Amino acid sequence: MTTPYDIQAEVASLSTEELLSRVQVLKKEMNALILAHYYTLPEIQQVADIVGDSLALARAAEKNSADVIVFAGVYFMAETAKIINPGKLVLMPDPGAGCPLADSCPEDEFRAFRAEHPDAIAITYINSTAAIKALSDITCTSSNAEHIIRQIPPEQKIIFGPDRNLGGWLMKKLNREMLLWQGFCYVHDAFSEVYMIQASAMYPSAELIAHPECREEVLRHASFVGSTAALLDYTVKSPSKSFIVATEPGILYEMERRSPGKLFIPAPKDPANPRSVCKQMKQNSLDKLYLAMLNRSPEITVDANLREEALKPIRRMLEMSA
Ligand code: 13P
Ligand code: SF4
Repeated sequence: MTTPYDIQAEVASLSTEELLSRVQVLKKEMNALILAHYYTLPEIQQVADIVGDSLALARAAEKNSADVIVFAGVYFMAETAKIINPGKLVLMPDPGAGCPLADSCPEDEFRAFRAEHPDAIAITYINSTAAIKALSDITCTSSNAEHIIRQIPPEQKIIFGPDRNLGGWLMKKLNREMLLWQGFCYVHDAFSEVYMIQASAMYPSAELIAHPECREEVLRHASFVGSTAALLDYTVKSPSKSFIVATEPGILYEMERRSPGKLFIPAPKDPANPRSVCKQMKQNSLDKLYLAMLNRSPEITVDANLREEALKPIRRMLEMSA
């Protein structure tokens, strides 16, 4: 009899090429759609049907004819896909891949924060749990947050969370006060001004580009600030030949693929540790992805009542950013 342990051991011995080809076969058999965030490993991006930022992946989860969605990202992303598609089997290679930013906003504390400001609406970043979405009026991503907030009357008070850096950047850009939850992404928050200045001095012709989850002291040195997809698009269109990229370095795979002649330098966290990496995104290994498809597990589930409430702000986001 073959045990799960035997299968795991067999899978661990397979080459990357063999795993890639087995995943392709299973994908057809299962009518599965593999979604992967830009921060995942190169081999995961290679096997995915759609590689995108949070907004592109939420849209792909909304519009597809697959029976099964395999989500290589972090937990809130797969959970969002399940909220949008309750009837589909949603799998994750490793459901232990959480997002510390999302986890920095506990439900009880956020409810209390809302209660302190009863006249404010809550716009929350998609990097949040289903419970926080259920307590929110509108969800947003770093791609559409500015566009969504511009549609809210200026006199309307806004609670924005959980990322204080994205919130601060939006406040500055839109010249508008918001009540910010004080969460942050440990990957983006790790970049600091002093190392950005050093990197720019070392590569004087390179453009510094940054994700809005970085601190203000970093963003103020960037020639372009945008979501992962916006940064990618910028590097394709810009005449510059080199870029210092202040975001998770997984995106460099697609940047290099789209602009083979250009140089992409991961922004340094500090000289001893040049890359600031999202450990959770890298938990999506190819063998775990293959096993998840083979076993049709681990499956992501969301309680029906919670799902109904969490879907409302996601729908509003998709309508407002159509
Ligand atoms: P975007 O995908 O919206 O760029 O967000 C980056 C991120 O940190 C995802 O977890
Ligand atoms: Fe969360 Fe930051 Fe990792 Fe994105 S990069 S999943 S925000 S910890």
